[in-house]
Amino acid sequence: MNFKSLFRKKPTNVIILQGGDGEQHILNKVLSVRDLTFFGIAAIIGGGTFSAIGNACFSGGPGVILLYVICAIACGFTAMCYAEFAARVPVSGSAYTYAYVSFGELFAWIIGWALLMEYSIGNIYIAFSWSGYFTNLLEGFGINLPEWLTINYKAAKLAFIDKTVGEGLTAWNTAPQIGSLRIIFDLPAVMVNIIITWLVYIGTKESKNISNIMVMIKLAVIVLIILVGFFYIDIDNWTPFMPNGFGGVMGGVSAVFFAYIGFDAVSTLAEECKNPQRDLPRGMIYSLVICTIAYILLALVLTGMVSYTLLGVSDPLAEIFKIKGIKWMLFIVSIAAVVAMTSVLIVFQMGQPRIWMTMSRDGLLPKRFSSVHPKYKTPGFATIITGLVVGLPMFFTDENFILDFTSIGTLFAFVLVCGGVLLLPPPLKDDTTETKGKFRMPYINAKWIFPAIVVAAAVSVLCLAPEFFTSRMTFTAETFTVNLSMIVFFILCIVIAVLSFIKNLSLIPVLGLISCCYLLTGMSPSNWLWFSGWLGIGLLVYFGYSYRKSKLNIEAEA
Ligand code: ALA
Repeated sequence: MNFKSLFRKKPTNVIILQGGDGEQHILNKVLSVRDLTFFGIAAIIGGGTFSAIGNACFSGGPGVILLYVICAIACGFTAMCYAEFAARVPVSGSAYTYAYVSFGELFAWIIGWALLMEYSIGNIYIAFSWSGYFTNLLEGFGINLPEWLTINYKAAKLAFIDKTVGEGLTAWNTAPQIGSLRIIFDLPAVMVNIIITWLVYIGTKESKNISNIMVMIKLAVIVLIILVGFFYIDIDNWTPFMPNGFGGVMGGVSAVFFAYIGFDAVSTLAEECKNPQRDLPRGMIYSLVICTIAYILLALVLTGMVSYTLLGVSDPLAEIFKIKGIKWMLFIVSIAAVVAMTSVLIVFQMGQPRIWMTMSRDGLLPKRFSSVHPKYKTPGFATIITGLVVGLPMFFTDENFILDFTSIGTLFAFVLVCGGVLLLPPPLKDDTTETKGKFRMPYINAKWIFPAIVVAAAVSVLCLAPEFFTSRMTFTAETFTVNLSMIVFFILCIVIAVLSFIKNLSLIPVLGLISCCYLLTGMSPSNWLWFSGWLGIGLLVYFGYSYRKSKLNIEAEA
């Protein structure tokens, strides 16, 4: 094996020819900038807004608003990088394709493998959350499913082991048995996955129309929650602003970040856009801006209506109206939650097969993954496999594990995208036809600015929290991890500052890279362990199959 060949890159023009307007183009070109913005919103506002926001508020208090701003900034920089890539490489594949252009095949494979967590594994979490709200709705209509059909096996077993009184323990004690095996699974989650898989299988246009309606309902209800909630705000609830300090605020990073995942899913639809170069970047940035405004207002209302101490629940938006005794809003919020989750499921379930389709075209996956259904014009085989990848783990995993896995995989992908933009050659300045109508990321020279930011941050830490580098040297396992990851992070900052100075790097991707790396420092050692294991399996597949079958490999031999 030739070491250099691991980093062989696919030229941008070849990628465009094979997947964009070239002869292989067979998907329907039906999506406009409005559709793409709606797809973005459909992917972004879901479980993070209706569920995970509660624990973030509980951990950080009203100060969680800062966290939404911080994550929005990180995602905003990353969106600009996605947009820059999407404008230059307008084909399906998301970060995978971009990595193929800038880092080479091995990294492209790694990122494609990591993206499986964002698109497929993330959907497992959403399906579980969907099931929770759906079950609540059914109960509102007097339909009660048995507990052993509304919870996953692992959660029920954990409840039994910990003797936690509640739905899990009841499910464990009442479940029918085959031999010693208890039949416990989340029926609504399994069913919604089957329905979504079918919907995505039968076609983009149908899915798009349903998704658009859902997004409109979702946005209308969020506006309603903000308007109604506004009249119940008690500004005393906003003090203390950060009851658990900034550490408490940062404790909610995973939950808040999860709420932002999704804007990048837009880039997987490049081949179905009417004008990908112009519309794709716009769709991503518009959807991110709209969602950020919605989140900040929601977080303000949530922490203003009740004390943050009451928000550590899985259905915080329902909880605030329950506490205030506004019953009609309870019902509306439950319906909106179900709608919101459904649209998120659709977008992610559409994204995964398209990434696989692109990988298959490159020879890295078997040919069947890129076969297009003759009638529906969708990647049929890959869609069914996605349904299985989402559906099967539901029988033996739980939502918390899935949430961490999704976040680390997505952040990893974002870091590579921002880094990839720094490696792209500058666009041709005098080619006006080339750049006309396309997104161009503004170039701001990071030469002095980024090193200044690093120095200011280091001085601030030394002045405001000198114990960070001294007293915490008496390690517990947790402080060791925090310190180690922060020290690695600071070293990375210094390296990037030096590179910025020497190479006049562009500030926006530099800030995107650094802000995503900062969020990664919040991941626990066990997250890293699982993630490393996952990447290890991916590398085995790559060297066992994809490396040999790669189209670039075949071309080189010819
Ligand atoms: N951002 C998406 C959600 O919150 C993944 O459901």
